[in-house]
Amino acid sequence: MKKGKFIVLEGPDRCGKSTQAKMLYNQLIARGKDVILTREPGGTPTAERIRQIVLEPGLDVRPLAELLLYEASRAQHTQEKILPALAEGKIVICERYTMSTCAYQGYGRGISLDVIGTLNQIATQNTTPDLTLVFLMSDKYFTERGEYLFSDRLEQEDLAFRQKMRKGYLEMIDRTPNAYLIDADKHIGEIQARVLQLLEEHHIID
Ligand SMILES: Nc1ncnc2c1ncn2[C@@H]1O[C@H](COP(=O)(O)OP(=O)(O)O)[C@@H](O)[C@H]1O
Ligand SMILES: [Mg+2]
Repeated sequence: MKKGKFIVLEGPDRCGKSTQAKMLYNQLIARGKDVILTREPGGTPTAERIRQIVLEPGLDVRPLAELLLYEASRAQHTQEKILPALAEGKIVICERYTMSTCAYQGYGRGISLDVIGTLNQIATQNTTPDLTLVFLMSDKYFTERGEYLFSDRLEQEDLAFRQKMRKGYLEMIDRTPNAYLIDADKHIGEIQARVLQLLEEHHIID
């Protein structure tokens, strides 16, 4: 039985999800909240092993296999970590969840959104976020914010792919309850203030 709150940060690479997830985690800890910070793909030892396969540069991973690996990681992570934490009343902050799979494998690679939706429901046992924050930034920042970073297999996707995903994220925000667009072009502090405001509006913090 779910008692906690499930907050998901979504959006393409380098738009500031990890930065904001860590800041939010620290804020909630400072306010005395019982909170965990986790991510997908990964979040548990088994799921992190799956993550290594999915993100390994140069490895031949076909779109369908990729989708099923993400869902395998999600099933493990949800059962082993997210649902128990929510049952204990914790706030769970998770970087990436079901919307990422729709964006990358659905809008990006063209796998049926219905198929992905069904797999998402199975893998999550119908667990849905209480709040989904979708970070989107202008494309000009993609290089600027990642110039010196190691580029994994998925980060090497091209501009057209990123634009398809952006369109997908915008459509999904419209049809997903409690999903909000976060303007990731803004300064780190401004974004954090907006995130905290949304948590207040959703009665996750006072
Ligand atoms: N609002 C921001 N403005 C400028 N740079 C940022 C902002 N948020 C994050 N960054 C920087 O951009 C890079 C990618 O951020 P990160 O949080 O790792 O993104 P993600 O987890 O979405 O891939 C990092 O170098 C980070 O310090
Ligand atoms: Mg990150």
